[in-house]
Amino acid sequence: MKVCSIPGLLLCLLPLVLSSPLLKGRPKDTGKNPHSATDYNLPGSSERCTDEGFGAISLDDKGVMHFFRGDSEWTGFQGPSRAINESWAGVTGPIDAAFRNYNEDKPQEHQRTYLFKGGQVWSFFEGVPVSGFPRPISQEFPGIPDDLDAAVECHRGECRTDSVLFFKGGTVYIYSPQDKPAIKQRSWATLGRCTAALRWMEKYYCFNGVNFTRFDPVSGQVLSPRPLDTRDYFVRCPGRGHGHAARQNATLVSIQNRCSNRSFEAFSSDDKSRTYAFRGGWYFRLDSSKDGWHAWPLNHTWSNLQGTVDAAFTHQNRMYFIQGTQVTVYLSEQIFIPVAAYPKAIEEEWEVPGVTAVDAAFTCPHSSDLYLIRGNKLTLVDLTTRKRSGEDRTIIHDELDSAMCNTHGLYLFRGQSFYHYKDVTELLSNVKAPPTKNIASYFLDC
Ligand SMILES: *[C@@H]1O[C@H](CO)[C@@H](O)[C@H](O)[C@H]1NC(C)=O
Ligand SMILES: *[C@@H]1O[C@H](CO)[C@@H](O)[C@H](O)[C@H]1NC(C)=O
Ligand SMILES: *[C@@H]1O[C@H](CO)[C@@H](O)[C@H](O)[C@H]1NC(C)=O
Ligand SMILES: *[C@@H]1O[C@H](CO)[C@@H](O)[C@H](O)[C@H]1NC(C)=O
Ligand SMILES: *[C@@H]1O[C@H](CO)[C@@H](O)[C@H](O)[C@H]1NC(C)=O
Repeated sequence: MKVCSIPGLLLCLLPLVLSSPLLKGRPKDTGKNPHSATDYNLPGSSERCTDEGFGAISLDDKGVMHFFRGDSEWTGFQGPSRAINESWAGVTGPIDAAFRNYNEDKPQEHQRTYLFKGGQVWSFFEGVPVSGFPRPISQEFPGIPDDLDAAVECHRGECRTDSVLFFKGGTVYIYSPQDKPAIKQRSWATLGRCTAALRWMEKYYCFNGVNFTRFDPVSGQVLSPRPLDTRDYFVRCPGRGHGHAARQNATLVSIQNRCSNRSFEAFSSDDKSRTYAFRGGWYFRLDSSKDGWHAWPLNHTWSNLQGTVDAAFTHQNRMYFIQGTQVTVYLSEQIFIPVAAYPKAIEEEWEVPGVTAVDAAFTCPHSSDLYLIRGNKLTLVDLTTRKRSGEDRTIIHDELDSAMCNTHGLYLFRGQSFYHYKDVTELLSNVKAPPTKNIASYFLDC
């Protein structure tokens, strides 16, 4: 099945987006059959698919994507156009640039969507204009020129600090007011001109007309092998994209539909609060709902990892996966790097005679205690000595799918439900199971 034919890139982005209602809260995108041909008859639907591309693209504070061209705006990945001022009061096109700010240290600016036209900038939050705007760009972003080509926010960790990349002509202005100097200029010749720029799901895209490339926001290096067509990945257009095979497979559809109530085989959370849910060779990131929701193949983040993950947990910058009898380990840097000499058998990794497979495994934040769950047995392993610690304990649960422990407590997952405990001590002392809650509604915003 040819679902993911572009190695290393955003891997079959559009087919996934379209195969299920993964992205929520798109105004005017009613969640009707996304493949119905009648959608293209709505006013402005087909204009979205011309080869002109877009002048600006940005997410808003709800995680909804907006595409701007001329006086028109398209909301979400499909559907009709409307006048820009219908959703952005007081703004008329064409828009030069747009981005959603990210700066947790500045709550008055964080998550605001900024629109640029000529020498003016507007700011919006929760669908309404922020007072005091529009303002001259030179006042809001001193040193940034008028008549921009494109703009995109860059998050701390992906860039050195929270910053904004402004594009004009061949120059990139890296704007981080907390630094000295506040603006650094770069010329990223290989990237070429960006008429729009976007950060989505921790990745950075430069659009030139209808084409786009993925790039590194620090070096400007081009990360996609060749320019790709926006209509195959970001917007739904008739006869384009290649998700048809995936759509017909009901199993795959329910795996990729985060709201399907299908069980997850594993959950994990690390010390950086990155939280993942794993299901049938795919994963969801649970802590970035501001970018919408998306199912990704495992190897999009963990190279060479495929198949079902039975359990996942982290310990000191390492992420562990248990699949059947095997353990695989990745170093968690900016990206995940496979540790050599894995996979290894569970019994080879830890001194746990008789433990050949597990239902679930978890570590709690900043702890070296690994808990392995098999049936109603809880095995404690000390990750510093790699040895079993004490006797197995019995828990009141059986047939669990997964477990996760974070700063909010311990979660045990089974089917479409989960149990919440304060900690391991509470789990071991409880004689009666706490009430269950629905995984999809609690963790996946369904
Ligand atoms: C990811 O895995 C799929 C199959 O599971 C494969 O088709 C694809 O080429 C892999 N991608 C990369 C980047 O390794
Ligand atoms: C939007 O702008 C057009 C002019 O471009 C104007 O005729 C219309 O009244 C505006 N609509 C709103 C809702 O402000
Ligand atoms: C888009 O990319 C294709 C090749 O992938 C190229 O032939 C075409 O000229 C590009 N168009 C623009 C506007 O850059
Ligand atoms: C449907 O998808 C599932 C999960 O990826 C896969 O195991 C199965 O083989 C697929 N079935 C068909 C008929 O392609
Ligand atoms: C998932 O389960 C919840 C709780 O049982 C239910 O309210 C919801 O309708 C279910 N969703 C689907 C898609 O079946």
